[in-house]
Amino acid sequence: PALAKIFNASDFEHICKQIIPPNAWAYYSSAADDEISLRENHYAYQRVFFNPRVLRNVTEIDLTTTMLGVRVDAPFYCSAAALAKLGQPEGELSIARGCGSENIIQMISNNASYTFDEIVDAAKPDQPQWFQLYVSENRDLNYKAIEKCNKRGIKGIFVTVDAALFGKREKDMRFHLLEDDDDDGDAGDNLSESGKILSAKDPGLTWEDIKKFKKATDLPIVLKGIQTVDDVLMAIDHEVKGVVLSNHGGRQLDFSRAPLEVLADVSKVLKEKKLEDKLEIYLDGGVRRGTDILKALCLGAKGVGLGRPFLYANSAYGQEGVEKLIQLLKLELSVDMKLLGVSKIDELGPEYLDIRNLHAR
Ligand code: FNR
Repeated sequence: PALAKIFNASDFEHICKQIIPPNAWAYYSSAADDEISLRENHYAYQRVFFNPRVLRNVTEIDLTTTMLGVRVDAPFYCSAAALAKLGQPEGELSIARGCGSENIIQMISNNASYTFDEIVDAAKPDQPQWFQLYVSENRDLNYKAIEKCNKRGIKGIFVTVDAALFGKREKDMRFHLLEDDDDDGDAGDNLSESGKILSAKDPGLTWEDIKKFKKATDLPIVLKGIQTVDDVLMAIDHEVKGVVLSNHGGRQLDFSRAPLEVLADVSKVLKEKKLEDKLEIYLDGGVRRGTDILKALCLGAKGVGLGRPFLYANSAYGQEGVEKLIQLLKLELSVDMKLLGVSKIDELGPEYLDIRNLHAR
């Protein structure tokens, strides 16, 4: 269908299910085990409601904010997602261009289909981009990547810490088993897309490595895939600039909690301990609507990431699809903020939410 017939982020997903190559659909849509965390990431938003205020002048709405000190046009970003080429020949390049024209940040995956340099070259000269790092047993590779980030003007390094190995993603595995012509019944021969990604992750990664990465660069280091209050407190002890509360879109440990729930716990403790200014908190997983973004921001998130929606918009429509996705989310945000009675991002706070049922599953 024409882009004019796309009304929200989820529309892209429904279209992709019909039109993108089956291996791309299997890889993009899959999550771990029974996909309970994938489901919960969405359901958590449905347990939070708004307390809208009225009789306030909401003629002008300002969606701009900063992330790691960089000015952006909206409080959300494109999260790292590997293998954008499976669904779209332009892969991460058209994602870079789409994010550039709408002035939001693209986090470049360590496992992108195009090279890091190609994706940076696709961006406009001053366009902000982040780099997502998978720590490999060969630390030299990681230090080289960090060095490149320094050289190429990357604005932040997001170290993924929830991937000691990949979760068991059965949709992806099943697809590759079906694909195999001379199937001898040995699933071990059939590498899923996630299995094929060879930038080996190191299960030996610890906080000591984070200290070393911090020494290797002046760029902000953010830990992606934090899931508990205790680890946020450790992140503060290690003086990193931020954390992303994330269960990797439900693709790692099934039954890990929805990041929105974790965010509520984290914000409460940081407030009690007066540690709110110590680091920036980001969140991803299940974000599809302007209201989802507002809920996370009210609970203290600095910005919110989306993974699959960018892959789907890009797979179906390339750069124009990416732009449309961003425009739709901006539109929803400004409509919802007007109706909530808030005109600026930094005015959002917990008083606008009813979270009494958030923890009741
Ligand atoms: C991811 N994600 C991810 N994360 C990361 O740190 N490095 C990566 O290479 C990838 N690759 C990747 C591929 C695909 C197909 C998906 C769906 C996800 C996780 C991603 O950054 C983010 O945490 C989730 O996608 C957020 O959930 P939603 O928005 O997809 O619901």
